[in-house]
Amino acid sequence: MPLSGRDLISLAEYSREEIDLILDVAGDMAQSLVEHQAERPSFTPLDRILCTCFYEPSTRTRLSFTAAMLRLGGSVMCMQDPKASSVAKGESLQDTARIIGSYCDVIVIRHPESGSAQAAADATQTPVINAGDGTRNHPTQTLTDLFTIRRRLGKLTGLRVGLAGDLKYGRTVHSLAPVLAMYGNEITCIAPPQLAMPAASLDEVQELSGTRPQETDDLAGVLPELDVLYMTRIQRERFETPEEYERVRGVYVLTAEMMRQAREQMMVLHPLPRVDEIAEEVDADPRAAYFEQAAGGVPVRMALIALILGLVTEPGTGRHMGF
Ligand code: NCD
Repeated sequence: MPLSGRDLISLAEYSREEIDLILDVAGDMAQSLVEHQAERPSFTPLDRILCTCFYEPSTRTRLSFTAAMLRLGGSVMCMQDPKASSVAKGESLQDTARIIGSYCDVIVIRHPESGSAQAAADATQTPVINAGDGTRNHPTQTLTDLFTIRRRLGKLTGLRVGLAGDLKYGRTVHSLAPVLAMYGNEITCIAPPQLAMPAASLDEVQELSGTRPQETDDLAGVLPELDVLYMTRIQRERFETPEEYERVRGVYVLTAEMMRQAREQMMVLHPLPRVDEIAEEVDADPRAAYFEQAAGGVPVRMALIALILGLVTEPGTGRHMGF
């Protein structure tokens, strides 16, 4: 049971085989969701509790973790608003994590500070899943991204992937880039100089793939060469001053006109929420995969939870439990 009892703070701690395992089990989960929808049997109840602790706003991540646990038959409790908990009285993250860990079987945490998910994991024996810590990591988003690429393009290697937008503050790209490199993909970083990918991430990619990402600020110029375009939101809440944000606001807007230059088999991803970086007219393009990507968050998180709780050990082993 390689993943049973494990934390997931960063995918750097997971091998390629372990990531493949999560994606394979996610494929089973996606299949079982389709079958359940068709047959509508009740899910077998599961005597396990997941707690979501969110110190930052979230729609997709929190609700898809909740849906995933409910689909597995388990229960969910949530600390959605830290202001309504003892955090408002000054309780430390470590104490909070230690207590919550004694009430549940797995903790999902999102926090504005980098390193906070690790700090929570250090304070409890209960497995902790990082749902986004500051600008650093968002490993379950990366798993969802990989799942969507593999499902659409049938492979996860040998692709040219453009990461566009806020590469300085965006934790989704900081998580995704090294894993794409490990799988043998070529990365192009598309950002204005103020939002460039940090040197540490570029070094990490180079170390893992042997190739340093190409850097450009010309989205339209590079678009025709891409297999995957990963758009991101400019992370307004992480800028030091509102003026700095205003200077780069709206720097890229992907339009239907630009999409005419892209490959027929190319796909557009976005972790969402989108603000203005993808025009709504692009949604109707069959290459727009971001809503499918968001929906994939449920089977991916079902797989991760089931593996961490030891309910499933390899693909196919959850079938007797109804998932
Ligand atoms: C992302 C995040 O929180 O980092 N959202 C998500 O989880 N899908 C992306 C973002 O907020 O821009």
